[in-house]
Amino acid sequence: MKGGFRIAGFCVLCLVLFSLYLLEAHLQDICDQYGAGSYVINWLDRNGTAPSPHSEIIPGDKVIVMAKMEEEPTEWVEDELPDWQRAIYTVNPSPETRLNDSALMTPLNKGHESMAYFTYIIDNYDNLPSTVVFLHAHRAGFLMAWHVDAPLHDNVIAMRNLKLDFVQQNGYVNLRCNWNPGCKSAHRFNSHVTDEIWAEVFDGTSTPPLNISSPTDQEVPGQNYLRKPAEIGAACCAQFAVSRDQIRNRPLEDYVKFRQWVIDTELGDASSGRVMEFLWHIIFGMKGIYCPDEQVCYCQVYGQC
Ligand SMILES: *[C@@H]1O[C@H](CO)[C@@H](O)[C@H](O)[C@H]1NC(C)=O
Ligand SMILES: *[C@@H]1O[C@H](CO)[C@@H](O)[C@H](O)[C@H]1NC(C)=O
Ligand SMILES: *[C@@H]1O[C@H](CO)[C@@H](O)[C@H](O)[C@H]1NC(C)=O
Repeated sequence: MKGGFRIAGFCVLCLVLFSLYLLEAHLQDICDQYGAGSYVINWLDRNGTAPSPHSEIIPGDKVIVMAKMEEEPTEWVEDELPDWQRAIYTVNPSPETRLNDSALMTPLNKGHESMAYFTYIIDNYDNLPSTVVFLHAHRAGFLMAWHVDAPLHDNVIAMRNLKLDFVQQNGYVNLRCNWNPGCKSAHRFNSHVTDEIWAEVFDGTSTPPLNISSPTDQEVPGQNYLRKPAEIGAACCAQFAVSRDQIRNRPLEDYVKFRQWVIDTELGDASSGRVMEFLWHIIFGMKGIYCPDEQVCYCQVYGQC
């Protein structure tokens, strides 16, 4: 009988190993995307979050801008990052929230986080702190916050480690260094940003659009055009830091125009948000491909050298 169990156990093991073998490529991709190896190491090495520095901390010259659903808890920002100013927009306000004079809301729940990001810039253009960080509302978690590229996928750790000097120096900083997804060569042929969408988004801004094939003789000297790049790539997920100067390299009207595109487009919430996800780095002055070497990125952005 015992032998029978052993054989059965052995067969199950073989089956599992065989399935794993088949799944290997897929798993590797997932592990890579989710940073699974370092997640486990950091989790084993965790000491509980460091005691939050509290009491009478005055927020510094830096702000966290966030879009949240009514039901999403965001107290962690105030509790764990009291040295940051906060601009947390509820995109689907309840009747109570609508009556709350101090609650921030977006004009519409569309374009995912982009509506809140643009609304913050538009409403605060003349009063921006030096560093503006655009973050998602969920703090951490292996699956839920897999796109947070910091130890334990934790945005608190990311914010405490963020090198503000580098944000000032570089102008725009993607908070994700991991190339997967968004930066791998297979991800750079972007189907979300078509010629038509490129033209719509940049039309009427300080950088009018040209598509890949537009002849150069169309260009009026002295005017900055944005020609659609052949490839667009940036590490995914729309969490980034921008300096005030970089934001102000565009006039306020540009941001009004971009937000209006999100409001007007026939694309739905997810698709319009996705388009913006691939355009932030370009809006903030980077080339079509913004994919710094991962190790250099961790070092410059988080001081993990
Ligand atoms: C945990 O504490 C040890 C010793 O104080 C330190 O070396 C290590 O970096 C800490 N780990 C984390 C994730 O903070
Ligand atoms: C109103 O909104 C502010 C800012 O989000 C919040 O701190 C406060 O608790 C809200 N007040 C009520 C009565 O919900
Ligand atoms: C690209 O630009 C040229 C010149 O402006 C225009 O004729 C053409 O229709 C554009 N193509 C697309 C797909 O928008």
